Amino acid sequence: MYDRLSFESRSSPERHPQRLAVIAHLLGVSAPKLENASILEIGCSTGANLFPVALQYSQAKLVGLDLSESQIAQANVIKDSLGLSHISFVQGDIRTFSYESQSFDYILCHGVFSWVSGDVQEAILELFEKGLRPNGVALVSYNCNPGWHMRGVTRNILSLFDNKQLTADKRIAQARSVLASGEDALVDAFRPYGLQLRDEFERSHKRSDSFFLHELLEENTSAFRVTEVVERARAHNLHYLGDAHPSRMRAEPVSRPSVPLSFDLDLLSGIEQEQLFDHLFPVALRASLFTQAASVKLTKKSLQDFYITSPLVPLSERPDIFSEQREVFCGPTELTIDVTHPLVKGALVYLRRMWPETVSFHELYEGACSLTGKKKNRKEKGAFEEELLKLFFQNLVEFYVEPLRCIGLDMQALLVSSYAQEQAQRSEWVTSERHEAFPVDPLSKYLIAELGEVSDFDTLLEKFYTMFREGNFAVQEDGEKIVDPVHLKEVVQEKLHEYLEQFAEAGLLCRA
Ligand SMILES: C[S@@+](CC[C@H](N)C(=O)[O-])C[C@H]1O[C@@H](n2cnc3c(N)ncnc32)[C@H](O)[C@@H]1O
Repeated sequence: MYDRLSFESRSSPERHPQRLAVIAHLLGVSAPKLENASILEIGCSTGANLFPVALQYSQAKLVGLDLSESQIAQANVIKDSLGLSHISFVQGDIRTFSYESQSFDYILCHGVFSWVSGDVQEAILELFEKGLRPNGVALVSYNCNPGWHMRGVTRNILSLFDNKQLTADKRIAQARSVLASGEDALVDAFRPYGLQLRDEFERSHKRSDSFFLHELLEENTSAFRVTEVVERARAHNLHYLGDAHPSRMRAEPVSRPSVPLSFDLDLLSGIEQEQLFDHLFPVALRASLFTQAASVKLTKKSLQDFYITSPLVPLSERPDIFSEQREVFCGPTELTIDVTHPLVKGALVYLRRMWPETVSFHELYEGACSLTGKKKNRKEKGAFEEELLKLFFQNLVEFYVEPLRCIGLDMQALLVSSYAQEQAQRSEWVTSERHEAFPVDPLSKYLIAELGEVSDFDTLLEKFYTMFREGNFAVQEDGEKIVDPVHLKEVVQEKLHEYLEQFAEAGLLCRA
């Protein structure tokens, strides 16, 4: 199937082994160091998640396994073009994958479990059981009920009209038109069921063709409750650690929900609490983390070894960080959060100034104390850690076991990773140093390619300007072509600045 219809594979921060290590550390498991780790990805597709990791850790050993010949062939072409020798790709079935002679510190399996038969699912869990090293961490993502329910209903409706004899393009077009009819039919919906289904139709409509083929029209897809997956993993002597999306981890020992609840949670085990929250606040996808049962000590770790960053931006230009005055900080989506703790406000202001760079916990604490004029004291530091942890479990502060390589805008040292350069030649997305997918337009693609050759602003501007002057790119003002060369240069310079600022903000620019 993946040989015929290629899957648009992208990286995401939850699938970086850093995230697995952070969650494990928070739960008292000393996950292996990444610099020389052995990492396996099951269902790696064309390697989009593994290549950035390989470029970061030249002493690590990485293996990508996938059933699809064409995807593995493509991964090997990219590997050769990047000149990497510590990553290998294996074409094969997880059920017959021979790993007896090797074991892994990290095993990643994203977007596979819900799309394969029961025996393949068992082979994945068996590999976690037998192939993980002590203290190693494995990730398996799957469609999760009850949050996935409306997607299931949407799939059932689409399957009524789907004709598998048609070409992929025609099937997708047909499915899109069925969704549009569904939206029309539910235009006056006012009951919760109709509103939810219409919402699911609308969200599905905006997704890529690849999503239609591999998620909405794919026949064999299943969804699980988190307790079902944890139970199956337990039969393989695996211990459930938590979720790679921190906000989906609501159970003890690390966090309590911020919503008021009158349930007596002490009556429930950790995983039952997590299941309860899934029933109340459902999510459609989970990325569960496991370790071998023998590795678990469950002692709470401090944040002192972490590197930290936060996407939060203060709403006010001059937030009051000295008193307990409420200050609003804005998140990456439209989310806002009120913060009153002076040291936390100071820390968020400090992190914003440093963005996109990560700073050590020590530096952050010192920075927050110095900005707020607070004296360092152990009790305050403990409370500060607790507050940061709460923000981490709301996805508003990020922790890393090692600093990220991304840097802010430095006009003399403009650089992007070689993988981003390679991606820009063939894809509409490139991977940032934050392991996120960053969409690229033709101008971005040109600039990313040039940043392989040139690293200072003035030389880049000359080249960029030439492209506009020679008509390879066009810039207009009030619908008119700019003819005056001096004015054109000013406009091009401004545009270049804008683009580079976006690159820096997205964490695309990296240190040498
Ligand atoms: C939906 S794609 C996910 C790709 C990638 N992990 C991602 O998230 O972008 C599922 C992948 O699993 C692979 N796959 C399916 N069954 C497999 C099996 N039995 N053994 C190995 N790979 C398999 C497919 O070839 C496909 O590349």
